[in-house]
Amino acid sequence: MGHMVLVMGIILAAAGALFPQGRSPREPLHSNPPGAQTEAEAKILAVIDHMVKVNQTYLSVPPQDGQALRLLTEAADAKNVVEIGTSTGYSGLWFCLALQKTGGHLTTFEIDHERATMARRHFQDAGVENLVTIVEGDAHEQVAKLKMPIDVAFIDADKPGYLDYLTKLLPLVRPGGLILAHNVDMVPDYVKAVTSNPGLETIFYMQGGGLAVTLRKR
Ligand SMILES: C[S@@+](CC[C@H](N)C(=O)[O-])C[C@H]1O[C@@H](n2cnc3c(N)ncnc32)[C@H](O)[C@@H]1O
Repeated sequence: MGHMVLVMGIILAAAGALFPQGRSPREPLHSNPPGAQTEAEAKILAVIDHMVKVNQTYLSVPPQDGQALRLLTEAADAKNVVEIGTSTGYSGLWFCLALQKTGGHLTTFEIDHERATMARRHFQDAGVENLVTIVEGDAHEQVAKLKMPIDVAFIDADKPGYLDYLTKLLPLVRPGGLILAHNVDMVPDYVKAVTSNPGLETIFYMQGGGLAVTLRKR
């Protein structure tokens, strides 16, 4: 018993030396809230906040994923971003935070006219309407018209359609580009496809709604 107490004492003393402020490595880490560097950024963030406050989102990504979309897009220096599932423009605005820095453009697809209309208004309110093209209609058909090399593709629409979107978008994604997919725990066939293709490298970011981050290898 005395021996046990001594061993516990040594472990606690060692932990105290390693983490003098009492932090343990198991404490959850929190991302910093996105702060605005510029007026343009503040304007976008204000619309993002307002949308949540007045309940003008629809099945939108949580802010943790919004931050991830922005960070990955900016890090990839993306010029062409394609989004499947605009909804009311919430994730699109997170992309715009990056695109106003990279000089890029978002092409986003939405089948529901009312949501597309609301998204258009949100992009205008945020002053980013020139950074975004909303394509209305069934994205399964509409994406066939895309030609450009895509730097970042984001799939966040009908779950049974994920594999079809992947098949259609992957040839357009540039080597070194990213394919992101949301709520991946709901799409096992998609997960299987992106984790079994030797030309792809996939990690999962699970702090929000579950984001698969897939690199098209060079
Ligand atoms: C999960 S919501 C998108 C949320 C959005 N990305 C955000 O975070 O704000 C999915 C959207 O995909 C749209 N959608 C579903 N099937 C579609 C299709 N075949 N073509 C285009 N949009 C579709 C729905 O109308 C819905 O608005």
